[in-house]
Amino acid sequence: MTRLPEDLLPALHDALGEAGLITDAERMQSYLSDWRNAYRGQAAAVLRPGTTEEVAAAVRLCAQAGVALVPQGGNTGLCGGSIPDASGAQMVLSLTRLKRIREVDVANATITVEAGVILQQLQDAAAEVGRLFPLSLGAEGSCTVGGNLATNAGGTAVLRYGNMRDLALGLEVVLPDGRIWDGLRGLRKDNTGYDLKQLFIGSEGTLGIITAAVLKLFPALRSLTTAWVALPSPQAAVTLLGQMRGLCGDRLTGFELMSRKSLEFVLRHVAGASDPFAEGHPWYVLIELSDTQPDAALNDLLEQGLGEAFEQALVLDAVVAGSQAQVEALWALREGISEAQNHEGPSLKHDISVPVSRIPDFIARTDRALQQAFPGVRVVAYGHVGDGNLHYNISKPPGSDDAPFKAQAEAIMRVIYDSTLEDDGSISAEHGLGQSKRAAAQHYKAPLELELMRSIKQALDPAGLMNPGKLL
Ligand code: FAD
Ligand code: MLT
Ligand code: ZN
Repeated sequence: MTRLPEDLLPALHDALGEAGLITDAERMQSYLSDWRNAYRGQAAAVLRPGTTEEVAAAVRLCAQAGVALVPQGGNTGLCGGSIPDASGAQMVLSLTRLKRIREVDVANATITVEAGVILQQLQDAAAEVGRLFPLSLGAEGSCTVGGNLATNAGGTAVLRYGNMRDLALGLEVVLPDGRIWDGLRGLRKDNTGYDLKQLFIGSEGTLGIITAAVLKLFPALRSLTTAWVALPSPQAAVTLLGQMRGLCGDRLTGFELMSRKSLEFVLRHVAGASDPFAEGHPWYVLIELSDTQPDAALNDLLEQGLGEAFEQALVLDAVVAGSQAQVEALWALREGISEAQNHEGPSLKHDISVPVSRIPDFIARTDRALQQAFPGVRVVAYGHVGDGNLHYNISKPPGSDDAPFKAQAEAIMRVIYDSTLEDDGSISAEHGLGQSKRAAAQHYKAPLELELMRSIKQALDPAGLMNPGKLL
């Protein structure tokens, strides 16, 4: 392990107290690998400040000592962004003790929360005052607001409410030199120059530490209907999406696509999961309509949309949830895919996006190219089709050894990203670059974009101590 300046740990102990500093190897373990165990690192210590001022003190001390920091929230990220490198010279800075809800302002429709607040707690706090915080994703029981902001998280309600970038009005950030930027303004309009908060959103901890945020609230939803729909093809899904949008407008709040393979994995590995239909179908969408009115006749709307789609042979079968338990059971089929895929051995995760209209061609072309080059690999395609965002994940051939598949990972990724670029897409629409897509971004992003990103990094973090080795 690289030697730390002798006085650094005692100074951090003074600044953060007993609860704020972990150096014991055993206690550090859970901070050093991600939930899939795909990334593992070492750290000189784990810092757990309890206030913004403590974060600032820790950052200042580490900056003076030239020690790099790896910010970490719920550690649910899927690209290794919150895991330190193997040197043992970096420190993990966990934000999970910053968990205060500072203010709920119903008149302004805002909520001010600290970075360590769990997303589900934020949703609950909004519900308590009859409001909605709409960000929703499978890891919401453990991911934090700070992590959601740092990754510009998306999830299943983006088609109606936007991603985290659209939901934030103001930020408080500890800069790499330890100064605190108080940008906690809840203004809907502010044209006084560059929108600085947007620099930190999606920056994956490489420009500073987000310690608090002012976020938008929306009216609570008082009626909701959910359907599980079988389809012959991704093209049918895209056509149905357009039709349902035209019919339902903003009441269409969820439209998730899943391949048969995705559902098969869930049925095999998720306890209590059952196929809503007696026979298998090639593709499925989960559709959700919601409204702020308690009696919005959403079922009539859904039946009208699906009825027309049946006549056009876009839809093969459909089931509408009849109770809250059924709503949850249908969502569990969708949210269970990540977990289920873990049980099928090593997998390659992708979160690409292409224009919605090009999804069918993208899937057909990429499936073909992969089966030609890597026969037997299993494509587990699903995702937020309303945003053009596909999790085009790959699992190893059944029964095969892990090693040959792992050796092909880079080449498989190339096929998928080349195909994404053919459709003018993005190699990361949701999870960010972290460690896993850093090199790919160097290859696939335009040189001028990379140059501008490096200039921003250099301006804010000239010493390169904020999450080095990630993103850039
Ligand atoms: P972490 O994993 O701890 O960190 C993520 C990144 O943010 C790291 O680079 C870290 O350094 C940085 N960071 C964390 N906190 C701060 C901070 N306070 N200041 C500065 N930088 C910080 N993501 C989606 O977008 N959509 C989905 O639908 C989705 N579904 C998921 C489903 C499952 C089952 C799982 C396990 C993950 C899913 N994710 C999804 C990925 C993940 O949950 C999100 O990226 C989430 O926003 C990460 O939050 P976190 O608190 O766990 O951050
Ligand atoms: C999801 O939408 O379920 C996640 O973002 C995808 C994943 O776990 O790969
Ligand atoms: Zn996703």
